[in-house]
Amino acid sequence: MGEEKALPTHIGIIMDGNGRWAKKRGLPRNFGHRAGANTFRTIARYANQIGLSYLTFYVFSTENWKRSQEEVSGIMTLLRNYLDEMDAYAGENIKVKFWGNLQALPEDIQQKMKRAEKETENATGVQLNLAINYGGRADIVQAAKQLMTLAKEGKMDPNEVTEDVFRRFLYSEEVPDVDLIIRPSGEYRLSNFLIWQSAYAEYVFMDILWPDFKPASLDAAISEYQHRSRRFGGV
Ligand code: FPP
Repeated sequence: MGEEKALPTHIGIIMDGNGRWAKKRGLPRNFGHRAGANTFRTIARYANQIGLSYLTFYVFSTENWKRSQEEVSGIMTLLRNYLDEMDAYAGENIKVKFWGNLQALPEDIQQKMKRAEKETENATGVQLNLAINYGGRADIVQAAKQLMTLAKEGKMDPNEVTEDVFRRFLYSEEVPDVDLIIRPSGEYRLSNFLIWQSAYAEYVFMDILWPDFKPASLDAAISEYQHRSRRFGGV
């Protein structure tokens, strides 16, 4: 297998199109999110089966609070339900991490997240990163704040701040940059997803709504990625 046929190490997915999927069926938007949460489960398990190392899902952005209270609380309920299944995930060898400003989330969800991270920390299968109350700019700002605090306390010399130092303060910490970003639903935007981490990412945009996304869709995106030539600024 040539190098270009290797699996990407880290895939990011923008789960878009839940609302339109529901609308097409004359259903409330939250039915779309429920279907989207099921797709999320299927794709997470499939990624583990094929041996992917890191998979990051954009679950809830810092901008999503603008949606109706009903829609926001519907998404929180789906998240709670998922977190309550975590015991099963530990058995599946899937590791879970949460990226974002988690302090702004309901207290019970924060506790469940901590528990899920702890229970799955030794898993060696795929690492799922769930970006929740996440924004790429907010990620960079919180990293800068941490560094400035350290500098103020005399624990960090500004001259020591390299890209490699900086990146460790991002929510992604030691996780390698994202190689492939998949956005279904026919929109062609990054929407404040992994801004720093996607500097050299390949993008695959797909004309399918997230609830209809299948393991074969992931295969198709990976196959497209494998045919791209990545040069990282070289020749
Ligand atoms: C974007 O579709 C989707 C979201 C903002 C929410 C994504 C959340 C889930 C899939 C459920 C999360 C639950 C778990 C367990 C991870 P959209 O609503 O913007 O769709 P539209 O563009 O068609 O309106």
